[in-house]
Amino acid sequence: KQIVKVGLMGFGTVGTGVVRLIEAHQEDLQKQTGVSIQIKKILVQDKSKGRGIATMQRLITEDPRELLEDPEIDVIVEVIGGIQPAKDYILAALDNRKHVVTANKDLMALHGGEILQKAQEKGCDVFYEASVGGGIPILRALVEGFSSDRIKKMMGIVNGTTNYILTKMSREGADYAEVLKEAQALGYAEADPTSDVEGFDAARKMAILATLGFHVPVNLEDVSVQGISGVSKADIAYGKKLGYEVKLLGMAQRDDDAIEVSVQPTMVHTSHPLSTVNGVFNAVYVYGEAVGETMFYGPGAGELPTATAVVSDLVTVVKNMKLGVNGRGMVGPYKEKILKADSE
Ligand code: NAP
Ligand code: HSE
Repeated sequence: KQIVKVGLMGFGTVGTGVVRLIEAHQEDLQKQTGVSIQIKKILVQDKSKGRGIATMQRLITEDPRELLEDPEIDVIVEVIGGIQPAKDYILAALDNRKHVVTANKDLMALHGGEILQKAQEKGCDVFYEASVGGGIPILRALVEGFSSDRIKKMMGIVNGTTNYILTKMSREGADYAEVLKEAQALGYAEADPTSDVEGFDAARKMAILATLGFHVPVNLEDVSVQGISGVSKADIAYGKKLGYEVKLLGMAQRDDDAIEVSVQPTMVHTSHPLSTVNGVFNAVYVYGEAVGETMFYGPGAGELPTATAVVSDLVTVVKNMKLGVNGRGMVGPYKEKILKADSE
């Protein structure tokens, strides 16, 4: 194959980034994969909306069948978000033996098992690096980089919107509602920002991290969750006086027979590097029995940072296609374990 054709589902913040990145880095991508990666169709909800990239207008459709039933399309990139219709589209894509790349943590945290099982049955890849930590390649790090170790604990600032809000409240005494509006305008927040501010988005990400890091299925309903809507400027100012920053912190830890996963606003002492993670940045602290302490840091949301994760997954899919293998990298050995969690 000289050309790999992609069906892009969603042309919002992340979808736009994916188009821009593929265009800007086409030559480098081609050097790495030996093929040209081309977007053949783009699915949106409302075709009449004005789009930033005029050259793509001719590829836009409102009919998912134009992507799902096109035999020339090898890979579906799903950046619509939410459970439905994204789930049906991904399952239909796999039924039609198309590989899938998604940024959808809602879907992977809730239905990852079903999706990964279908992928296995059909001999297709499903990669979802962008679902956690935006541009930070944390899922690869967990699955590949720490495969020889036993991870005991992970702590994460894994929601960009809330970290942006808390940082502005702390540094500028800004108003919660005003900063939330800013985060929405910058494309950081979810379509329904309740997911961000009430901690559900971070909980989904922690469930994915814990499942991959501990090699044990972690269900969303087992994650205890508290968001930042109850955090006041006074709480933040009081914490600062005592040498702490308030962060929405995800925590996942295991001992010999128990795993605990939670998300809650936490006073982080200024001596800890997590206290210095500001704005839309995310960080995941990983403690492994052998490696000791590590930390991964980078932009947790936004157009191009998130697109790097999506397009890197796409590159892995293309490399796998060339080698005639599946699942190399992120998901392989975890499929059955995630599946069990889903079906229990
Ligand atoms: P967005 O800006 O709201 O874009 C969503 C896109 O999906 C829009 O183009 C929309 O079409 C299209 N869409 C919505 N419902 C549809 C439907 N029923 N059928 C067809 N198309 C539909 O969302 P986003 O911020 O790019 O996020 C996309 C995904 O990436 C989500 O899963 C999100 O959690 C994840 N993610 C986002 C970020 C980020 O920084 N934004 C970071 C990491 C992961 P119209 O344009 O016609 O409305
Ligand atoms: N709404 C999410 C956030 C997008 O703010 O972190 C990135 O997953």
